Amino acid sequence: MAAGDDARVSIHDLRAAKRQGQSFAVLTAYDHPTARILDDAGIPVLLVGDSVGTAVLGYDSTIPVTLEEMLHHVSAVARGAHRALVVADMPFGSYQAGEDAAMANAVRLLKEGGANAVKIEGGGPSVALTRRLTQAGVPAMGHVGLTPQSVNQLGGHRVQGRDAGAGQRILADAQALAEAGAFAVVLECVPADLGRAVTEAVDVPTIGIGAGAGCDAQVLVLHDLLGLTSGPKPRFVKAYAHLREHIADAAKAFQAEVRDGDYPGPEHTY
Ligand code: KIV
Repeated sequence: MAAGDDARVSIHDLRAAKRQGQSFAVLTAYDHPTARILDDAGIPVLLVGDSVGTAVLGYDSTIPVTLEEMLHHVSAVARGAHRALVVADMPFGSYQAGEDAAMANAVRLLKEGGANAVKIEGGGPSVALTRRLTQAGVPAMGHVGLTPQSVNQLGGHRVQGRDAGAGQRILADAQALAEAGAFAVVLECVPADLGRAVTEAVDVPTIGIGAGAGCDAQVLVLHDLLGLTSGPKPRFVKAYAHLREHIADAAKAFQAEVRDGDYPGPEHTY
């Protein structure tokens, strides 16, 4: 990523990366310590996703996540990220009730949360909103394909755009978002051919999650990458660590030492 050593990654750096054919990684972050670790590790974009609802808050979908909850997590991440571009998801209900309310909520995510940009799901009305936000100086990321906030409409978390008509609609939505000023577009759970076709059709970076290797960038939910989530996982998830087991082992070791009188030792005692 072209940003100077101390400079914050900008939306222009992401576009330059696409032009240069340089792939980049995006990760979700929800709190201050992990934001610091990921920022220090050089991850250029941190997404405070509304996946905070399922990954951290124990909801069974992203739908219950509120703007206040997002602000709480976005501000913690923004305090920890000095170089990464911090993107805040606009949660369900924060942009559907009209453009004025959506604009006011996006502004809160930047002013109070300290985000550098927002992300909005869907095409259709989200295209007009993207145009309005970006014209007002609020960088906006699009999100098409599987849009989890519409899970009730979509009938579940399933691959989108499998047939030609649906694929064309996703492609058209991505193009409309890019034309409206979106600085990047997330493509979630679409066939790899469609991911590649959208990437070739738009001049802003595509950020894939279950959209194949043809996207300009890849994003994962941090808790999936770290092996913190339990239960069945989508096919695109790759765990690069197994922290669930490490946390359980550490907790059990502490419990055993307390039980056996080995903790605290003299070195832990005043
Ligand atoms: O909420 C989220 O984490 C997301 C990513 C999965 C793209 O939208």
